[in-house]
Amino acid sequence: MTRINDSYLKLKAGYLFPEIGRRVKSFTDANPGIQIIRLGIGDVTEPLASEVVDAFHKGIDDLAQAKTFHGYGPEQGYDWLAARINEKSYKPLGVELKTSEIFISDGSKCDSANILDIFDLSNKVAICDPVYPVYNDTNVMVGRTGEADENGYYEGIVYMPCTEENNFSPAFPGEKVDLIYLCYPNNPTGTVASKEQLKGWVDYALKNKAIILFDAAYEAFITEADIPHSIYEIEGAKKCAIEFRSFSKTAGFTGVRCGLTVIPDELTATTNQGEEVALNSLWNRRQSTKFNGVSYPVQRAAAAVYSDKGWAQVQETIAYYMENARLIREGLGQAGITCFGGVNAPYIWLKTPDNIGSWDFFDRLLSECHVVGTPGSGFGPSGEGYFRLSAFGSRENVQEAIKRITEKWGS
Ligand code: MLT
Repeated sequence: MTRINDSYLKLKAGYLFPEIGRRVKSFTDANPGIQIIRLGIGDVTEPLASEVVDAFHKGIDDLAQAKTFHGYGPEQGYDWLAARINEKSYKPLGVELKTSEIFISDGSKCDSANILDIFDLSNKVAICDPVYPVYNDTNVMVGRTGEADENGYYEGIVYMPCTEENNFSPAFPGEKVDLIYLCYPNNPTGTVASKEQLKGWVDYALKNKAIILFDAAYEAFITEADIPHSIYEIEGAKKCAIEFRSFSKTAGFTGVRCGLTVIPDELTATTNQGEEVALNSLWNRRQSTKFNGVSYPVQRAAAAVYSDKGWAQVQETIAYYMENARLIREGLGQAGITCFGGVNAPYIWLKTPDNIGSWDFFDRLLSECHVVGTPGSGFGPSGEGYFRLSAFGSRENVQEAIKRITEKWGS
């Protein structure tokens, strides 16, 4: 009899966002005609920048002519896209990368999951709590954990609580770990790490011979000066960190799919015999075998983000979402709801009014205000009693949602 991967059965519930979708569908099926405002999953709502659309069209036109046709591209992505990313996103930060250290992919969700392929199961993993569920669930899927306890903590994972008491900045793990997931600006809390804080993590990783998996998917939403956009702004990070970035939120590519992973040449880990191996070449081997690259028109579209006009258009859309974030944060804050984040990230992390449980608040917000958000406990046990609202939405919807929430829950 064929055996399944039993680890999948250890997963507690369905993946968070489909579960939210299921509850919303059952509400809308039972209440047709009710106008739901969706500020749950962080999915963009504004159209692609016109420069990006033009480049996308042009990419397809290239495929229509024998002379400009492109078949398989490099599995690592086209060098011209990596070069533009380098010029526009890393050089201005003072970060020097080779294009061969930048791997273009179909998104940072996939990369942050697939990266586990190149690490031994014996590695101890540390993740924040609350956290983007992909880091936790993929470690369960590959078999790195035991069962979950009654709180939802999996045996074998080291959880780093991020709470109001520690300003949502986790303490260093209390035991030796090998892989540390960090996400800044943070999903779900919307908080950021200062240079000093990131330096602390880099120093910790170097000292403890650990590797940081740094998810910078929301770096484009940083509005305050001095907040690092890349872990490589910190000295020594190239020796201990992999960075993931995404075009999804930055340039509205959630449905287009494009992201990137940076693995510096000097980053190594050891074999069972203690021999050092470069992770760049391992990931290159993994991608060449399991991935055929991002489609040519998508990479053309992504490259257009870095043209002067494309960049300005993308920044304008980001500013639009960040104005939504400000309105939510201030609107709810003025009504007496405690809010975090939303200054350097498109997420507002709020304390549920009257200490209502996260899922109860979700259900009440849906049924009484017809607004969808994401229950904090869906991101981990320390998210209980919190709730995440996304700033991705039309201004009109965001203002209407604030009105509905504050009328119902404001003090
Ligand atoms: C979120 O809402 O946390 C994100 O949209 C999920 C994702 O990017 O995969």
